[in-house]
Formats: sequence, C-alpha cells, structure tokens
Amino acid sequence: MIRHVLITAGPTREFFDPVRFLSNPSTGRMGYAIAEASLKKGFRVTLVSGPTSLEDVPKARMIRVVSASEMHRAVMKECAKADLIIMTAAVSDYRPKIISRQKIKKEKKTLAITLAPTQDILYEVGLRKKKGQVLVGFAAETHELKKNALGKIKRKNLDFIVANRVGEKGSGFESANNQALLIDAQGDTTLFPLMSKKKLAVMILDAILKRMSHVRSVIFKNRS
Ligand code: CTP
Repeated sequence: MIRHVLITAGPTREFFDPVRFLSNPSTGRMGYAIAEASLKKGFRVTLVSGPTSLEDVPKARMIRVVSASEMHRAVMKECAKADLIIMTAAVSDYRPKIISRQKIKKEKKTLAITLAPTQDILYEVGLRKKKGQVLVGFAAETHELKKNALGKIKRKNLDFIVANRVGEKGSGFESANNQALLIDAQGDTTLFPLMSKKKLAVMILDAILKRMSHVRSVIFKNRS
C-alpha cells in the first residue's frame, strides 16, 4: 500500500569556482507535477529538488539541494521511509575534481577541468530497495530509447522506467510538454503521446498504481 512518495526533481549544479558550475537545462517541472499528482491522491510527499525557478509544492515536504552529493545525502536519509520512489532528477554524472576557492581568472587561452564521477543515486537506492518498495527511474535518451531504458531497469534494479527522448524540439528538458514511454521490469510498455507535463504526470502515476495493483492481485491469487 502506498502512503509515502519520495520524488527527486530538477538538475544539480557542480561548481568548479564560486561563480561557475556544470549543469543541464532540466526545469524540474516533471518531478513537481508528479509531486502534485501524488498529493491529490492523498499520499504524503517528500520532494528532493535541485535548483529550479519553481515554487515549493504546497503540502509537500521540500528538501532543496544544489549538488549531486547533497541530493545523494538527502535521498539516502529519506529512502527507507518511502513506499514509492520516483527519481526524475537530471543528476550530473560528473563533478569537477577540484573546486577553486577563488574565481578562476581569464589568464590562459584554454582551461581544462578534470571531472570525477558523482554517485549514481538511483543505483544505490536500487541496491537498498526493501520488499514492497516500488522504484521508478527516468531515462533521458537521444537514441535507442527502449534498449537503453531496459538496460537501466536491470542495472539499477527498477520496477519501472519512464523513458523520454531529449534533444528534440517541443518535448524534453526545457519544454512544458513531454512524451514518454513507460516500461516495466517485464518489458511491457505504455506509450504516452505529447501532452503537458502536468497531464503526463497524472497519467504516469495512474499507470504505475494500476500496474502495481495488478501485480499484487496476481501474487495474492497465486498464494490463495
Ligand atoms: N540518476 C541518479 N544519479 C545519477 C545519475 C542518474 O539518481 N548520478 C538517475 C536519474 O534521476 C534517472 C536515472 O538515474 O532517474 C537515469 O538517468 P540518466 O541520466 O538517463 O542515466 P545515467 O544512469 O546517468 O546513464 P547515461 O547518462 O549513460 O545515459
């Protein structure tokens, strides 16, 4: 039974001096819309958000973070308490190895920054997944959408993945609209055509809850 939903949203920022960072164009809209849809269903919601221009979701417990490492810390602290975990955040896969305390001056013709990997938060939540917990990842892909998304389901021990194509006009990162392919661990898919992220959030949540109750009723039938 779902009572508490943990959601991650938005980008992360990986600073390499006090005024510059690596990031991506994620707005956080998809995750915030899923938080609102979950609250409407009567669930308790914790929203761990990277930097966005969006206002706090009323009635959600908001945890604002900046970097991948802060998001990692927050999610590790919260994940055991959640029944459904939906990770929409566009977490930076790399961070600068060295952060300069002072602003880097424009002295050299070229500037090389060495990057180190960040923790894969979703992978670590997958390792710790408890019985009955449902884990949903998002996959932003420019090519081989289904194949790459299926790989992520296996690698990260997910129950569902929402795959969307990025790098196309009219959907994805900076748009108010999105299209998505929901894939479950058995490889069954549901395609959602281009629509507002708010509407898509409701449809994705409904499809996940419906599929979960179906899986549970099959388990129940097999037991009785
Ligand atoms: N994710 C995460 N921590 C990271 C990177 C990704 O929790 N350091 C999560 C995202 O929130 C998303 C899922 O993993 O739910 C997939 O993210 P994506 O960027 O598509 O995949 P990666 O695992 O980073 O693989 P790649 O960049 O090679 O496609």
